[in-house]
Formats: sequence, C-alpha cells, structure tokens
Amino acid sequence: MGDREDGEYLERNSTKEKTKIIPKMPDEYKGEIKKSGGYTKTEPREWTQHELEWVQMLSNQGYTNKEIAESVGRSVTSVSIKFKRLSKRDGSYNADHVREKYQINNEFLKKVNPKTVLDCYCGTKNFYGEICNATTNDMDESISAQHHMEALKFMCMKYSQGEKYDLVDLDPYGSAFDCFDLAIKMAKKGIVITFGELGHKRWKRLDYVSRYYGIDSLEDFTIDNLIEQVQAIGRRNKKELVVYAQKEWRNIGRVWFEIYPLKITEQWEKEQEGCCYNEGLF
Ligand SMILES: C[S@@+](CC[C@H](N)C(=O)[O-])C[C@H]1O[C@@H](n2cnc3c(N)ncnc32)[C@H](O)[C@@H]1O
Repeated sequence: MGDREDGEYLERNSTKEKTKIIPKMPDEYKGEIKKSGGYTKTEPREWTQHELEWVQMLSNQGYTNKEIAESVGRSVTSVSIKFKRLSKRDGSYNADHVREKYQINNEFLKKVNPKTVLDCYCGTKNFYGEICNATTNDMDESISAQHHMEALKFMCMKYSQGEKYDLVDLDPYGSAFDCFDLAIKMAKKGIVITFGELGHKRWKRLDYVSRYYGIDSLEDFTIDNLIEQVQAIGRRNKKELVVYAQKEWRNIGRVWFEIYPLKITEQWEKEQEGCCYNEGLF
C-alpha cells in the first residue's frame, strides 16, 4: 500500500470473500515477553497502552477478533479475553469523553430546540429518547431502540419514506461517511457527527481518508478538513452547515452543526457544475 507510512498491511485473499486488508500493528507497540511462571505453556507478552488502543481502534472499525489477533500477532483467545476484561473494568473502554459529549449535546439541544430527532446509533443510554421525541436506531439488538438496522439501510428507509427531522445524530464507533449525504438531506435544523476516522491519524493511516475525503497527507488530516468536506456535501444539498461546537478527544472527533438554507452565490453554482456526488442515487 503506497499510502501506508508506518508499517505493512496483511492481505487475506479468498476465492469467496473480497480481499480484506488488515493493518499490521507496528512492532514498537509490542510489550515485553514475560516468564510464564509455569502457569501457561507459552511465554505471555505484556499488553502496552499502544497495543490496547490499537486493538480498540480495529474493533471500533468492525474488525473481528480473529482479524485483530492476526494484526497484533496474538491468539484469538488472548484478544477475546482482553476485550472481556476491558469491558468489565469500566463498562466502556472509550468512555473518557462521554460526559463532555452529553454536556455539549445538552447545550446544542437548547440552541436548536428540536421537535424531532433521528438518532441513528443511539447506544444504551438513549440520550435523546429521555429528552425529546426521538426516533432511535442501533444495530445491536440487545439495546432498547425502536429500530435495529444497519445505519445506512435505516437512513435509506427513512429517506424513501420522505421523513425529515429537526436534528440528526450520527455517532458511530468508526466512520459514518456513507450516511452523511442522507443525514444532511433529512436534517432541518442541526446535525451532529462523530468522526471515528480521526483515530486513523494516530496510526498514520491515510488509506480511508484518502479514499473518502481526498486527504493524502498527515498535515492535511485535520478535523477542520473533515468538516470542510461535510460542509461541501451540505452545499450540494443547498444547506449551509455552520459549526456550533467541535471537539477532539484521543481517537475521535465530534462536531455539532447548525443548518441554514444556503444563500446561492456564484461560487456555489460553480461547485455544482463540477459535482456529481451521489447524483441519481436516490
Ligand atoms: C458510540 S456508540 C453510540 C453512543 C450513543 N450515541 C450515546 O451518545 O450514548 C455507537 C453505537 O452504534 C452501534 N452501531 C455500530 N455500528 C452500527 C451500524 N453500522 N449501524 C447501526 N448501529 C451501529 C453500536 O451498537 C453502538 O451502540
């Protein structure tokens, strides 16, 4: 992979599956080998903080435990046990930013005052459901949501039903890029997006943002450039997305946008001429 700067990729080919690229963890993230003390046959390797963050990042991006094990050079059992222990320890390994997220959500709700909310990745807390009239979705069937669909399919369904919402929230673990266009189409007053893809920067990974955002260097890999791309999708939908708040935590970013009708200018017309984004898809 030409755009990979800090390591290799492991490629698995199969006649049935499409080629899946598994990023290989850089060797410097590996911990020391400990003496087993006779309890295990193999000599266990210590988990470093870097390795823990790496496996969490892959998990957030939907890699299976088997693939993660391959990436870090451990057994599937070792990876599965580590995930269980991490989730038992604090209920949610990535939770450090959550309180601040809800605090800004609350401020934004006061600003936008939505009558209707579409919460596409609602999670266990059901934040909006407790406050206002929210339509909730989460793929995880164990979560108490109104719908349990994959987010993009869910958005397609809602859009084809002609639904509109004052506020749309996209809060995935990884990236919700595929949902941006429909979310912007359906949102009237505000849209909130969590950018899990920002975590790739920590690992100097450019393949995803190069493909989706046209970002080809680490200098350009900033939340401001991700925001610009979202605003460009907004303009194609004749909407102006104005940043109300933006936050960056360790591996993710989140942006709260207010939505206004776009004032048509010459520049916008030029952008439209050169644009074919999702045209004809719906
Ligand atoms: C970051 S959590 C959501 C947190 C929640 N919005 C909150 O603020 O409390 C992400 C949620 O998305 C769900 N999820 C992951 N991938 C999904 C997908 N493709 N479609 C729908 N839900 C998905 C997960 O089950 C998880 O509950």
